[in-house]
Amino acid sequence: MHVVTSKQELAEHIAEWRHNDEHVALVPTMGSLHAGHLALVELAREHAERVVVSIFVNPTQFAEGEDFENYPRSLERDKLRLKTTGTDLIFAPEATTVYPFGIENATIVSVPGLTENFCGASRPGHFDGVTTVVARLFALAQPDVAVFGQKDYQQQLVIRRMVEDMNLPVSIITSETIREDDGLAMSSRNAYLDEEQRTIAPMLYAELSAVGNELQNGRRDFAELESAAQQRLMDAGFVVEYFAIRRALNLEVPDRDCDDLVVLVAAKLGDARLIDNIVVTV
Ligand code: PAF
Repeated sequence: MHVVTSKQELAEHIAEWRHNDEHVALVPTMGSLHAGHLALVELAREHAERVVVSIFVNPTQFAEGEDFENYPRSLERDKLRLKTTGTDLIFAPEATTVYPFGIENATIVSVPGLTENFCGASRPGHFDGVTTVVARLFALAQPDVAVFGQKDYQQQLVIRRMVEDMNLPVSIITSETIREDDGLAMSSRNAYLDEEQRTIAPMLYAELSAVGNELQNGRRDFAELESAAQQRLMDAGFVVEYFAIRRALNLEVPDRDCDDLVVLVAAKLGDARLIDNIVVTV
């Protein structure tokens, strides 16, 4: 497994693989890797002979006052974790490599519409930062496929839209959410939870599952389901940003006949902002 920081070194590896007719999969990450990331790598492995994992805590996707400075960084531990996963190359660039003209002067890639609600509303500028960095990583690594986690449901929809709209030559694969034994979706930000909050956090997935069951059983009073779940989470100590039932395809408000739904939640517990979702096909 190679670790490179420059775009020249990355390009040399990619050129050699291309020369050998090998396909390249990219797994973009911000590091602090957990089992959820390793599942992305495993899935990437199924789709390409070569796997690149990028590790870059992207400053442009953190809104003012968010946790960019405190975001957990553990490159040495991440390297060890990836060693046994079949990763061919880690790309761990400096900000000057990703944004050669500086962040202030960077060309921004922005997807309208899909980014307006949910995480886009509560984290202004967040998705512009995500699409801007992902487009740059695609340009640098030129992958055939790229793998993203379902936990960031809106993110993977936004990236799919960017790829389709710009006709980028990369296939997007979404990998299912990996959970702790008690249901909590794995996330680097779970590290912010204290012991008591950690016991409460699995309630997010429990509420999603309960609402998912109600939908499976035919309930279609979406607004009531949303507000009851939101209230139960608030009673348990969460500060809820949103709990919403939407069309899985495009996050629009579903009608009663819609058979592909997603239930999405974002809530804060202390310093940890947690997101999760489940797709419900009825
Ligand atoms: O999901 C993430 O970890 C980040 O948003 C991503 C896709 C690596 C872009 O920085």
